[in-house]
Amino acid sequence: MNNLEIKNINIGQIHGYERNARNHPESQIKQIRKSITEFGFNNPILIDEHGEIIAGHSRYIAAKQMGLSTVPTITLSHLNEKQKRAYRLADNKIAENGGWNLELLQLEIKDLEQICAGDLDIRITGFNDAELDQIINLGDTVPADPKANHIPFISEDKIVSVLGDIWQIGPHRIMCGNSLEESTFNQLMDGAVANTVLQDPPYNVKINGHVCGSGANSFGQHKGDLKLHPTVKPVEMLRDAILDCTPRGGIVLDSFLGSGSTLIAAQQAGRVCRGIELEPIYIDTTIRRFQELFGIDAIHVQSGQTYNQKLADKRGIK
Ligand SMILES: C[S@@+](CC[C@H](N)C(=O)[O-])C[C@H]1O[C@@H](n2cnc3c(N)ncnc32)[C@H](O)[C@@H]1O
Repeated sequence: MNNLEIKNINIGQIHGYERNARNHPESQIKQIRKSITEFGFNNPILIDEHGEIIAGHSRYIAAKQMGLSTVPTITLSHLNEKQKRAYRLADNKIAENGGWNLELLQLEIKDLEQICAGDLDIRITGFNDAELDQIINLGDTVPADPKANHIPFISEDKIVSVLGDIWQIGPHRIMCGNSLEESTFNQLMDGAVANTVLQDPPYNVKINGHVCGSGANSFGQHKGDLKLHPTVKPVEMLRDAILDCTPRGGIVLDSFLGSGSTLIAAQQAGRVCRGIELEPIYIDTTIRRFQELFGIDAIHVQSGQTYNQKLADKRGIK
């Protein structure tokens, strides 16, 4: 076995191989810069006795862009000219010939996403949003899951929510309020900025004639009619749109939340929902639907009580 020694040398002492056949798009170099910043320069550049790179061109480009004056290197003085040229290709190609155990990869990514939340961007692994979505949803049968589209029945005298309530449900936040008022958005978003808006405002609904020219909030005085018109959207349709239009962990805003289909879809897609709904009964419906599906308690932001505690109080159960 040859003895390998890692030496930190001046970046000016090394140079690329003229016929390096590997392409390094800017997006990859950016990933390497982030990786070096997060994890350190853990993979020395392999060079020959003249400072010519044998393996590590992309790390070299990233280091130059980062303005690093020295880089860790290993000099492979045991290779002859033919071996150097062949090894340049082998180092890249043999790595490419491996595959992934997709089930283990899914477990690892899901775990990492949870433990790194808010601390470390999962994309530091080099997987992009579309790849992560694909890995995480491997084998999920969401389009065929009838539970996701089930709407729980709420009796009118057991409605917990009132106008002005804000509920935190896992990473999501929903508010019972009027989306025609700016203050509702300010309270709900609390400084956060949405990545996308996905909403389904009331449209062309017959209420003793059609709503016409009187704004999206026309339902306010027509609660009886409104409850006959929930027009719940299929979760899988919203989920597909969310997957296509937002990054993982991105915020989806729906200011006409209805029975919470956007919230369910956002949870399934690994996104964060912020939702506004005027009718307390639909906020309750949304919370119960979400809790039944995911087993995560909704917390009333103003009081710190869970939805179930407030419901028990309402029912007179202590
Ligand atoms: C078509 S529904 C949305 C259905 C929803 N996409 C779902 O799948 O459950 C429209 C919703 O907008 C709500 N709405 C109407 N005017 C509103 C307003 N000014 N502020 C907030 N919500 C409003 C209605 O109560 C109704 O639930």
